Amino acid sequence: MTGDPNEEFLPFSRPSISRAAIDEVVACLESGWITTGPRVKKFEEDLAAYVGAPHLLALSSATAGLHLCLAALNLDPGDEVITTPMTFAATLNTIVLAGGRPVLVDVDPATYNMDAERVAGACTARTRAVVPVHFAGLPADLDPLYELARKRGLRVIEDAAHAIGAEYKGRRIGSFGDTQVFSFHPNKNMTTGEGGAVATRDGNLAETVALLRFHGMDREAWARFGKQGSPHYEIVAPGYKYNMMDIQAAIGLHQLQELDGFIVRRTGMVQRYNDILAGWPQWTLPGNPPYPHRHAWHLFAPLINPGTAGMDRDAFMQGMKARNIGTGLHYRAVHLHPYYRERFGFKRGDFPNAETVSDRIVSLPLFPSMTTDDQDRVIRAMADLFGKK
Ligand SMILES: Cc1ncc(COP(=O)(O)O)c(C=O)c1O
Repeated sequence: MTGDPNEEFLPFSRPSISRAAIDEVVACLESGWITTGPRVKKFEEDLAAYVGAPHLLALSSATAGLHLCLAALNLDPGDEVITTPMTFAATLNTIVLAGGRPVLVDVDPATYNMDAERVAGACTARTRAVVPVHFAGLPADLDPLYELARKRGLRVIEDAAHAIGAEYKGRRIGSFGDTQVFSFHPNKNMTTGEGGAVATRDGNLAETVALLRFHGMDREAWARFGKQGSPHYEIVAPGYKYNMMDIQAAIGLHQLQELDGFIVRRTGMVQRYNDILAGWPQWTLPGNPPYPHRHAWHLFAPLINPGTAGMDRDAFMQGMKARNIGTGLHYRAVHLHPYYRERFGFKRGDFPNAETVSDRIVSLPLFPSMTTDDQDRVIRAMADLFGKK
């Protein structure tokens, strides 16, 4: 059976943009100031208060944030940065762009996150930083990682692209530790269209990010063009163009107010998926670590069991698409991509847990405006595809 052609396609993710956010964008467009300005400033203040960070800088993307935090390390050729292969390519790409060598460690097969023990085993005299990824919004076990980083003098840049609103041992991601990078891409728990932010407790890093995000200019445009501003500026470093626009911040200001409600909705739907799918031999459901945490549930991404499902992940995704249901692939392990195989010699077999996850993972539809009926459609389509009575 394939999907009813009259039934609307259900995407795996869809942003929820309120009328207030739309009105704010219109007000921004009509205000005469649409690039970085007062709305970005307000968004940064609100976001800093929400995550509990002393320094917070809004940017054009999380990729930009990772790039700037890594560039600030002034890596020498051969310097190493340890991260996980179970991530989006941007985590590794930015290490390479900043002049570093990505060193990978395998992940826990149940949580898909890396841990301090594996990182300790990969440290060398050239290791400069560690980039843990809070996969799907589940905080990695940070205390042992920070303990290791402190002992070895390593910078920790948390790739928190999935983890806005997540908590580790009662503390919000962004409120403790070294540095965190958030994403506001439309699939994420909150969006600014495209966008990202760096939170840090290091004032020097914050200054460097502020400088490098806008050409290496010692003054921001809106401070120059305002009534009190001076048109002069000086370039003190060759910077990038990674600033967030006020149009983006206009959306973000309202998304931030709704974020906790979005996470509650996501969590409720994940509980329902878990309850329903618990008895299905076709799935291995995501595992829970023993430490206290609040999962942000950016993704609900179980592993398909091809033996009992009678199909592999790609056939499952095709079959769901034929039934008008979208699914997502987050992610193919990055070390298996041609650039990383050819440049760094990674190969299949290097990280067996990540490869198992990479081969079998699939993101099921999950977004705040999804209804119980939508979820029932997903379940019915899966039952039909698996030939389940
Ligand atoms: C783990 C991870 N890191 C970084 C990024 C990059 O985020 P952005 O699209 O905001 O640049 C993503 C985006 O999907 C991601 O999933």
